[in-house]
Amino acid sequence: MSQLVIALDVDEAAAAERLVDELYELDPIFKIGLEALYGYGDRLFAYFEARDVRYFVDAKLHDIPNTVARAMRRLVRPGAHIVNVHALGGGEMMRAAVDAARERADELGCTPPHVFAVTILTSIAPEDLPELGLRGGPGENATRLAALARDAGCTGVVCSAHEVRDLKAFFGGDFLTLTPGIRPRGSAHGDQKRVVTPAEAVAAGSDYLVVGRPITNAANPWAAAKAILDEMKA
Ligand code: C5P
Repeated sequence: MSQLVIALDVDEAAAAERLVDELYELDPIFKIGLEALYGYGDRLFAYFEARDVRYFVDAKLHDIPNTVARAMRRLVRPGAHIVNVHALGGGEMMRAAVDAARERADELGCTPPHVFAVTILTSIAPEDLPELGLRGGPGENATRLAALARDAGCTGVVCSAHEVRDLKAFFGGDFLTLTPGIRPRGSAHGDQKRVVTPAEAVAAGSDYLVVGRPITNAANPWAAAKAILDEMKA
């Protein structure tokens, strides 16, 4: 069943905490991104844990395998449901992340987080790929990196909902997908270019739907999140 991930992209810890208070009864997964992680990560983790909520650490780890493994050990906690890495860090780095997640979870007696891989950032245009030394289009590169992530033991990839059907056909239903760029009909697109509705993302087979501003900027975030959950179940 598809699950809702709410991106807490706010610059103050108190604002993130207010959103958690308002929304946790709907049992979403909360996403903590780089800004919150560097700005007020420990405070927010403690807040999540006091309310027993699940969260996704959008850490996008990308460094040498040893450093990534050590960072991963710091991020594994009982509520950490997902932690992600950059597939461009390489197979050995991703394997180190997956192994460290499992080992640390064993030590803590908790379930290891899913390790997801970011393939090609959606902010990278096709014409940007050659200067990075990458041949082929974004789709080709994303598929190749997804295969590398799967072989390294990652649970799935971050991708557009438009790519879910192909990825599932290629790698099987057990290889999970986490999709941003979700917009309920009638809500502002903001900077997201190729959006899909919650119902379309569920129909495509997306496992985790990431939604930020349509909920966090709503006059009533609870009602906005509830409407998305209802649409996902319909
Ligand atoms: O507010 P909005 O629903 O656009 O938020 C989407 C979230 O997903 C943001 O935290 C954004 O950084 C993240 N994201 C994305 N596109 C990607 C990867 C991550 O929008 N390709």
